[in-house]
Amino acid sequence: GASLVRTNERTLAMIKPCTSGRAAEVIAEIEAAGFVVCAKKEHQMSVPQASEFYAEHDGKEFFKGLVDFMTSGPVVALLLEKPNAIKEWRALMGPTATSKAKEEAPDSLRAKYGTDNTKNATHGSDSFVSAAREAAFWFGGPVLAAEKTLAMIKPIVSELN
Ligand code: PPS
Repeated sequence: GASLVRTNERTLAMIKPCTSGRAAEVIAEIEAAGFVVCAKKEHQMSVPQASEFYAEHDGKEFFKGLVDFMTSGPVVALLLEKPNAIKEWRALMGPTATSKAKEEAPDSLRAKYGTDNTKNATHGSDSFVSAAREAAFWFGGPVLAAEKTLAMIKPIVSELN
């Protein structure tokens, strides 16, 4: 019978204020790497919004600098789809610290577009749980819920087949 196969995964990406002026160029690289841009939104975050987005870092020494930077200009948020998107997107971004990215992953987006630990060009969700939360933050509603449901029922469906 017909088989239900779903290999794609979604993740939430941001092009940070230091790089959002070159968003078209970055998005072209993202698409050339095989990602589909399912949704896109450009928005300048308020301080409360950025503080909520980065709540897990509240209290760390870089928190205020991070919030100041992320509210300093527009961000381009992207919902990206590809098999293994969460891991693949973090690989395309490269390491958080720009100097490390330049040494260890010279072809990565952070190596090419980043300038320091804060102005590091892009963001990517680090797990399925963060991807679901961050996608809902930017695009509203449980946009990844359908995908999670499919992943849950897939083993049951293949058993039925
Ligand atoms: S940590 O410390 O392990 O929780 O760091 P990480 O999960 O990599 O995320 C840190 C995010 O904060 C941004 N940021 C900095 N990190 C480290 N040091 C400094 N000085 C700093 N300034 C900002 C860093 O870019 C990560 O942002 P995102 O958007 O999540 O990539």
